[in-house]
Amino acid sequence: MNRRPGPLIAGMLMIAAGLAGIVGLRPILMSRGPGGIINRGGMMGMGGMMGHGGMKPMMQAMMGNMLPLGIDPATLPMPRSAGAKSLQHFCTQCHELPAPGLHTAAEWPAVVERMVARERMMSAYNMMGIQAPSDEELATLLAYLQRYAQMPLNKATAKELDTPAGRAFSETCSQCHALPDPAQHTAADWPGVVLRMKHNMEARGKPVPAPSTLDAVEAYLQKYAKRSGKGGV
Ligand code: HEC
Ligand code: HEC
Repeated sequence: MNRRPGPLIAGMLMIAAGLAGIVGLRPILMSRGPGGIINRGGMMGMGGMMGHGGMKPMMQAMMGNMLPLGIDPATLPMPRSAGAKSLQHFCTQCHELPAPGLHTAAEWPAVVERMVARERMMSAYNMMGIQAPSDEELATLLAYLQRYAQMPLNKATAKELDTPAGRAFSETCSQCHALPDPAQHTAADWPGVVLRMKHNMEARGKPVPAPSTLDAVEAYLQKYAKRSGKGGV
């Protein structure tokens, strides 16, 4: 492959750096949630960078542990909805597909603002072929992420958090995202989710708890799980 690393590295630094506020973005994002505003860094003049292959692998090598673990698009909720399509289109340009469950509805606006600021700046300067969503696409994308977001546990009303199982749950399940509300899944669904989280831990190089600990976490989740629709648990 014919790669010119100079511009690519400059572009990578631009992507990595926080970017100055982009006009027009904030009202849309802030009307949707209480997320904080990120506004740092300055914009250097840097035009003329054209589309460039090899960015994703290079990003992965340089900042892999800051990037989201990718998911299979087929596992997205409502995969053919406009929101799911926007997510796949705009959010896989630099890294793998991020899952809505990575953040809570309150957290997503600030994350999306940081990402879309990069996209708008890079598309304005025609860098690496990056495309930015229109205001309407952005609103659809954000609404989708928020609709299927991680449901955080309300620690004020949560029960038995200060038990061995509750503590194992808190410690194990808050490492990568907000501590999940057990009531977002049925008891029947939790084992599959916990198994997937075990794979996520392995993929991220996080310590996987001993089987007995993971069993206790699973039992805690099942005890406070959502009642299944048919009256049973
Ligand atoms: C122009 C490149 C680029 C695009 C396009 C992009 N990202 Fe990112 N993303 C990054 C970089 C760089 C990081 C690591 C630094 C950081 O978190 O700001 C990152 C990290 C992330 C993370 C992990 C960090 C966190 O705060 O959870 C998530 C989640 C994420 N991106 C979601 C998205 C979503 C959603 C979109 C589409 C709206 C998107 N990204 C589009 C460059 C991009
Ligand atoms: C190593 C990081 C990591 C740890 C630790 C982790 N998760 Fe996750 N979690 C993820 C990632 C990545 C996603 C989004 C992709 C996915 O759903 O697999 C996610 C998504 C979720 C979701 C939303 C998706 C769904 O299926 O509902 C829930 C709920 C969840 N995690 C629960 C848990 C629980 C419970 C634990 C503790 C047993 C846990 N997580 C520990 C990384 C982690």
